[in-house]
Amino acid sequence: MIILESERLILRHQRLDDLEALFALYADPDLRRYIPDAPTTLEETREELAWHQHGHATRPELGLWATILKADGTYLGRCGLLPWTLDGREEVEVAFLIAKSHWGRGLATEAARAIRDYAFTTLGLQRLICLIDPANRGSIRVAEKIGMTFERAGEDEMGPFLIYAMARN
Ligand SMILES: CC(C)(COP(=O)(O)OP(=O)(O)OC[C@H]1O[C@@H](n2cnc3c(N)ncnc32)[C@H](O)[C@@H]1OP(=O)(O)O)[C@@H](O)C(=O)NCCC(=O)NCCS
Repeated sequence: MIILESERLILRHQRLDDLEALFALYADPDLRRYIPDAPTTLEETREELAWHQHGHATRPELGLWATILKADGTYLGRCGLLPWTLDGREEVEVAFLIAKSHWGRGLATEAARAIRDYAFTTLGLQRLICLIDPANRGSIRVAEKIGMTFERAGEDEMGPFLIYAMARN
């Protein structure tokens, strides 16, 4: 099912036949550098795909969606919305991952903007965040470009993170 479209991208539910493309992305060390819990095996990748193929399992209106280049149908990555509970507060994160072959063309920003608009307008969410490794300059810039500002730094079992956030208005 198609979730949303932007000028160059289609975001749709993941399908099990996305497995090889997604596994190839996760095999790239530059892509997984700031995603320490990304799947490492084909089986883990299949589990993640299955978990997201009808939307997020516990909040089906959210999820990681296959991100497809309209021009030629290339599977570029997975972008979307993920639910978290942080310090007892329900949050929704804008998540993005784009194939290295297509970095630097504004595609993550385009996806994140379209996801932001979908979250606020279609889903009626009031607040969005990005959870970012402090060294991940590209993601910080994407968060800023869609209108988020730095809110606070934190640390969990996977290491330090920054929270960027924005409210609906
Ligand atoms: C971070 C990522 C999504 C950026 O994708 P992208 O399509 O290249 O991003 P864009 O082309 O939209 O660029 C957005 C901005 O970030 C900047 N940027 C991108 N990568 C950067 C980097 N490594 N260092 C500094 N700035 C960077 C761009 O210059 C641009 O800013 P500008 O318009 O002011 O020049 C991509 O590198 C990626 O998928 N990384 C691996 C997955 C990941 O880390 N996801 C985020 C987890 S929180």
